[in-house]
Amino acid sequence: MIETDTQQSVVDIPASSDHDLHDEPRIAFEQIVNPLREGMTQIATAPPCAMVIFGVSGDLTSRKLMPALYDLAMTSRLAEGFSIIGVSRRDWSDEQFRQEMRVAVEAHARTPVTQDRWDSFASGLFYVQGNFDDDAMYDRLGARLLEVDQERRTDGNRLFYLATPPSFYITIINSLGRFDLVDRQDFYRAPKIGWMRLVIEKPIGKDLASARELNHAMSEVVSESQIYRIDHYLGKETVQNAMAFRFANVLFEPVWNRHYVDHMQITVAESLGVENRGTYYEEAGAARDMLQSHMMQLLSIVAMEPPAVFRGNAVRDEKVKVLRSVIPPSGPTVRELTARGQYAAGFNEGKAVPGYRQEADISPTSVTETFVAMKLNIDNWRWADVPFYLRTGKRLPRRVTEIAIQFQRVPHLMFQAAGTTDVEPNLLTLRIQPDEGISLRFAAKIPGTTMELRTVRMDFAYGASFGSAGADAYERLLVDAMMGDQTLFARRDEVETAWNIVDPVLEAWQAEEVTGLPLYEAGTWGPEKSDTLIQRDGRVWRRP
Ligand code: BG6
Repeated sequence: MIETDTQQSVVDIPASSDHDLHDEPRIAFEQIVNPLREGMTQIATAPPCAMVIFGVSGDLTSRKLMPALYDLAMTSRLAEGFSIIGVSRRDWSDEQFRQEMRVAVEAHARTPVTQDRWDSFASGLFYVQGNFDDDAMYDRLGARLLEVDQERRTDGNRLFYLATPPSFYITIINSLGRFDLVDRQDFYRAPKIGWMRLVIEKPIGKDLASARELNHAMSEVVSESQIYRIDHYLGKETVQNAMAFRFANVLFEPVWNRHYVDHMQITVAESLGVENRGTYYEEAGAARDMLQSHMMQLLSIVAMEPPAVFRGNAVRDEKVKVLRSVIPPSGPTVRELTARGQYAAGFNEGKAVPGYRQEADISPTSVTETFVAMKLNIDNWRWADVPFYLRTGKRLPRRVTEIAIQFQRVPHLMFQAAGTTDVEPNLLTLRIQPDEGISLRFAAKIPGTTMELRTVRMDFAYGASFGSAGADAYERLLVDAMMGDQTLFARRDEVETAWNIVDPVLEAWQAEEVTGLPLYEAGTWGPEKSDTLIQRDGRVWRRP
């Protein structure tokens, strides 16, 4: 039964904010026009700004943000005065902060660190120590920002990046508002001094209600056009290429629908376990950690209608329309349409590895899922009756993310008399990572005197064509945020609609017996029920 009305009403963004949702950020005219004049060959430099990173002593900063910022600086994507003010509880001086960041950059950046390069980057690094709930810290931060503006000519442009545990998000957001460190800017309200933007990491909430609460807190201090919700999958070259592939080629779009596609499989498999993130993961699990965010983004990109332009709201409008058309599994259908599991001890690349319950910071009786598979249907004109099978898990045999589009069988096989009784249907695979590329499977005649057919593959590999699969996702996203381009960031209604799909599943799982959570051996493709879920429809999972 289709419940479109209910689906939509769950995510009823108040009418008054509709215009806020569709408000494009102010972008300097030159920023748009110059690259166009140059035929897009010019790589633009982001305008000067001060970036404040809350939670700067954490893993995200050292593994992703700081190396990405360094690489951007070294490739002249950042303005000369670009500055970073790190905030955390650690008792560091500016100098100690710089030393810590140097270690991180040396370990993770693409550009080798030399003394000269480091000195020029480090001259823009500053530190403010304090607790996120300490008013005095925000006073110090405000004063530091003014100094940086003057000394380094950052023009009052500010990017506030929340890289803290999510439990601090609302406190920080409220404080930014209370201390006038941000002000509401939109198309009708020009910035008082410079632009101010808020960048926030997933998870955006742990369910629909908490996501709304967080979104609401942000909307109290800034407008939607100032909010950049990071889903780092959108920063991946290959994910963006899925859009280029669909909408910059005439060949595939005409067959990208229920008349030709049998089903799609979206796999995000990881060979790693939970690593040192036990405390976070116990609360999250695979559905919150991967399905609600990264996988819903992949789904919306492969299933959306062509946007009119590749620009913020045009793209996001189409993505959200797809998510709104997904029929969320609920109540009794959850058992049939989903499979979850948790990894037990097993082997990873030949080495014995512990089970999830034996990992650090994990309860020995934990019922958190580390694997989820799900069958979804999209109830719209293009996709009616085409199943989308999604699966993600930790400690699977290998790290692979791919979107496989399985086309229908040929309606009639004329080669039967010649001995070919079956040919495999066409399969298009978008390989997101690793081994980034695209391949198309089709039938070909085996050379010889008989009409025998075999399946062959046509392959595009990023490495071979471009030399590499490109920059780290964070480089792209950070520079986009500085340029005021929201295209690759999740909008409020997108996030809430994705929760609307995942929430009923989490609720149904909670009501289920613990026996609903089977174990799977590390190094295998998840619990048996995942196979049953797809085999019931006469299909099988690919073994990528
Ligand atoms: C993160 C999840 O968002 O994405 C992690 O929190 C996961 O659990 C990671 O390992 C996967 O990202 P990538 O880029 O390695 O596929």
